[in-house]
Amino acid sequence: MQTRLQEMKETAIEQIRQAADAQQLQDLRVKYLGKKGELTELLRGMGSLSAEERPVVGQLVNEVRGALEAAFAAKQDELEQALLSAKLASQSIDVTLPGRPIPTGTMHPLSRIIEELEDIFIGLGFEIAEGPEVELDHFNFEMLNLPKDHPARDMQDSFYITDEILMRTHTSPVQARTMLKKGGKTPVKIICPGKVYRRDDDDATHSHQFTQIEGLVVDKGIGMSDLKGTLLSFARQMFGENQQIRLRPSFFPFTEPSAEVDLQCFNCGGSGCRVCKHTGWIEILGSGMVHPRVLEMAGYDPQEVSGFAFGMGVERIAMLKYGVEDIRHFYTNDVRFLRQFNRG
Ligand code: PHE
Repeated sequence: MQTRLQEMKETAIEQIRQAADAQQLQDLRVKYLGKKGELTELLRGMGSLSAEERPVVGQLVNEVRGALEAAFAAKQDELEQALLSAKLASQSIDVTLPGRPIPTGTMHPLSRIIEELEDIFIGLGFEIAEGPEVELDHFNFEMLNLPKDHPARDMQDSFYITDEILMRTHTSPVQARTMLKKGGKTPVKIICPGKVYRRDDDDATHSHQFTQIEGLVVDKGIGMSDLKGTLLSFARQMFGENQQIRLRPSFFPFTEPSAEVDLQCFNCGGSGCRVCKHTGWIEILGSGMVHPRVLEMAGYDPQEVSGFAFGMGVERIAMLKYGVEDIRHFYTNDVRFLRQFNRG
């Protein structure tokens, strides 16, 4: 009996070591230690032993049981470890793999220019004002000294919705609206960026919808020198420290006197080239001293206060600054064009 126990112990331990997985190990546990297991079976046979043999064999059985249990525990540990390692290996992260790029958009060049213009004028003490794109004829024209049938209305061919309502042709109606809201108070110092609409045929330099920035200053003692100083400061911040500007006499119904403002050609420095059509100057905006009639209609006494105004096309500034040759690039949303304006 002792020999059988010894043999069983050796075979069992060997089998336990060889078990491939938890199921096999469990089967072995049943086979040896279970209620009908081999060890239990041997114990049952103890009844036939002599009184001297019994305690010796009993001790041996306990020893064998202890050895088997230890072997089971060790194997169980080993299997669990192996399982864990396999799991870790299968879930490992390869930190050398390149990441997946997250596509980001870029700021539209027109938004960039508007932001830059706003920064410049806020730095000069201006506030930003806005107005509706669907506008009354009253604000778009009449309040700006352009009564019905005034020939200068032809300068801005318009999209009318009704006889009295149109898509605004310029940002100047925001001037009138702001002055009225101020109720005669000074100073007024605003810029108004926004979309405007004109019945133009689209080509490389025309678009039926484009963007303007209007400026207006009204206060006591405002003169032409304030207009020129403000615009020179703007030109230098936008196009470079050494910029020169030139004022040329012009006409707008809402300003008197009126002036077109030219920028010295940044391409040739003024000597004449293709960009400036060999004049050395590039026209960038319209401006002038606010017409006394306009001040009056908006509730100001032209004997007391005066003002200047200017308006520029944002697309034109962007085209000059970035060397864009066709205005339509700003609206056709070709990502190859837009991506070039990545801030990075
Ligand atoms: N509103 C004018 C235009 O669209 C520009 C302008 C604004 C001129 C203010 C003078 C003063 O052509």
